[in-house]
Amino acid sequence: MALATAAPIVELTDLVKVFDGQVRALDGLDLTVARGEFLAINGASGAGKSTLLQVLAAIDTPDSGRVVVDGVDLTRVRHPDHYRRQEIGLVFQLHNLLPQLNARQNVELPMIGTHPRRTRKERAAQADELLAAVQLAGKELRRPPELSGGERQRVAIARALANSPALLLADEPTGNLDSGSADAVIELFERIRRERDVTIVMVTHDPRAAKAADRVVTMLDGRIVDPAEAGDAAF
Ligand SMILES: Nc1ncnc2c1ncn2[C@@H]1O[C@H](COP(=O)(O)OP(=O)(O)O)[C@@H](O)[C@H]1O
Ligand SMILES: [Mg+2]
Repeated sequence: MALATAAPIVELTDLVKVFDGQVRALDGLDLTVARGEFLAINGASGAGKSTLLQVLAAIDTPDSGRVVVDGVDLTRVRHPDHYRRQEIGLVFQLHNLLPQLNARQNVELPMIGTHPRRTRKERAAQADELLAAVQLAGKELRRPPELSGGERQRVAIARALANSPALLLADEPTGNLDSGSADAVIELFERIRRERDVTIVMVTHDPRAAKAADRVVTMLDGRIVDPAEAGDAAF
């Protein structure tokens, strides 16, 4: 029997982030995420959800509090850009693909200059494998303008997986999609979690995502709150 002692992959303690000296985007937030968990976060606009993801991605640092991801204290990481590229996968509401590059090249981009070192050929092969995993085999040479919204988001997900991140962060990944494409993207996240050694933290208002997730928490005024306390603010 497995011992239930594996350390959580994310441990956030008493996080505070204040903007412009008055907006408490994070206000004493505590959160633990288990390794391999698929966590969905909802909450009203302005609750601090994107700020939380930015801190988890080492894009932003909190004013105070502890951020430990996979055993690393993120406030002490010397090269956050390098750390992020190696350890974190990021998916946003808008795909942020480079329009002049094809799908394969977009997925290859984060592989350049990271470990393990890969040759051009290896990068291309790996990108194609990831594109196949997001059901885009045969579309490797299409550029973003030649793909549908749902397909573009799936390229963005493949790109986020390029360096086999321990943690996959998604900020309203279906927010810009029609309901059919949103379904496919949610199913894809579910399958990624099942098939890969990855933890998913997804900010979403999509009730389908809430069903696919292991756990749903609600943010309100910079903290994780009880569903009862959140009331109608959740969706
Ligand atoms: N870079 C920033 N500068 C100033 N205020 C910000 C900045 N980022 C977020 N905020 C403010 O912090 C609060 C939380 O924002 P955000 O994390 O984007 O919320 P959510 O993603 O839940 O909608 C909001 O009041 C927002 O206006
Ligand atoms: Mg947001």
